Amino acid sequence: MAYIAIAECNVLRFFIFQKKGAIFDKIEPNIFKESPVLFIYSNNIKGEKRRLKMEKKKVLGISFGRKMSNCDVMVKEALMECQREGCDVAFIRADDLEINNCTGCIACVIGMMSGRGRGYCVKHDDFDILDEAIMQSDAVILACPTYETSVTGRFKTICDRIGPSHDITFRKARYDEGKEAGVPEEQLPDARAFKKRSAALISVGGAMTEEWIALTLPMMYEFTFPMGIDVVDTVEYYGAMACENVAGNPEMMKRMTRVGKNIVDSINAGDEDERIKYRGDEEGTCPICHTRLIQFSHDKKTASCLVCGSLGTFDIVDGKFTMHYTEEELNRSRLRWGGKLEHSTEIKTQAQPAGTIKNLKELKQPYADFNPGVWPVDENACGNVKK
Ligand SMILES: Cc1cc2nc3c(=O)[nH]c(=O)nc-3n(C[C@H](O)[C@H](O)[C@H](O)COP(=O)(O)O)c2cc1C
Repeated sequence: MAYIAIAECNVLRFFIFQKKGAIFDKIEPNIFKESPVLFIYSNNIKGEKRRLKMEKKKVLGISFGRKMSNCDVMVKEALMECQREGCDVAFIRADDLEINNCTGCIACVIGMMSGRGRGYCVKHDDFDILDEAIMQSDAVILACPTYETSVTGRFKTICDRIGPSHDITFRKARYDEGKEAGVPEEQLPDARAFKKRSAALISVGGAMTEEWIALTLPMMYEFTFPMGIDVVDTVEYYGAMACENVAGNPEMMKRMTRVGKNIVDSINAGDEDERIKYRGDEEGTCPICHTRLIQFSHDKKTASCLVCGSLGTFDIVDGKFTMHYTEEELNRSRLRWGGKLEHSTEIKTQAQPAGTIKNLKELKQPYADFNPGVWPVDENACGNVKK
């Protein structure tokens, strides 16, 4: 029925679905620049002129930094490149949103498992704005400052709100079961959750050595992995305090332009292998996430990638440390479907419901009765409690 024609337009390659016989012949450039849709003219099989409409690819930038400081500027530079390349872009400063911590009620997961919910938080706050923007996007570009060697509190809060409620293995299972049972679309998880998306992750730290930003980039995968978003580029910018603002660092700004280019290349790729291809500067020690965060097992004979959770062996050849993973272990990465499915399945099959320990109230009573409270303020010391 539908045939694919490929058209080249100064910078972007488009895949146009059109009826058999239609011949692509003209792109309307002004509309292409200003509108979220692209109009392409073609002749149909009878030689009649037809106007085809195609949505621009959407790239969402999220900065977790201070207003107009490094993260804001870096994300905006990458977004500007995406816009120049014909994408529809949006920008969110995470600190402009009021997003509450996850309370741990797990209603999101229980709802999906029981078939009564869509996988959303029972509470509504500005997370809904972020969620809608992510669902509309084809790619996300995130930049997060390093606080205490890792991501900021707000970044972690948002990750807790994303997973497990947005875990695609939970959502897909519920969606497919619901569809099969004839449940209306609006009562099921948002179908946009299953769209293939690409991401670039940028970590920023003031410190002059990369050891002080070591956990930030690995932790940033907590945003992408539950939703199955493929990270295609990563950048670690340290030593930020030595430059008043990254806008005055041409090398890093050039790298941000390349982040934008890499994202555009990914979302316009002709096939899935090309879309998910890693475009970062370094291969890292893990072939899946490309980070270097390795934890040795207790017997120190094996090690695992802390981002993926995949276990492997290692050796040192010519002084170079190398990890070796079996294909099975790579597929257990939580960045892949298999790793996520393993975890959602263990939750579905192993987590015990309330009421399984008969005398639980009795067992917990001593702890309910034990309330030592907090010490009174030491009036002789110079603390910070307002008197
Ligand atoms: C509470 C706090 C903790 C920080 N801890 C670190 C750190 O562990 N390592 C580091 O490299 N920079 C650290 N920094 C510096 C920030 O990462 C740096 O200022 C960064 O540029 C902030 O991003 P922004 O400019 O986009 O706001 C810390 C800053 C704050 C406010």
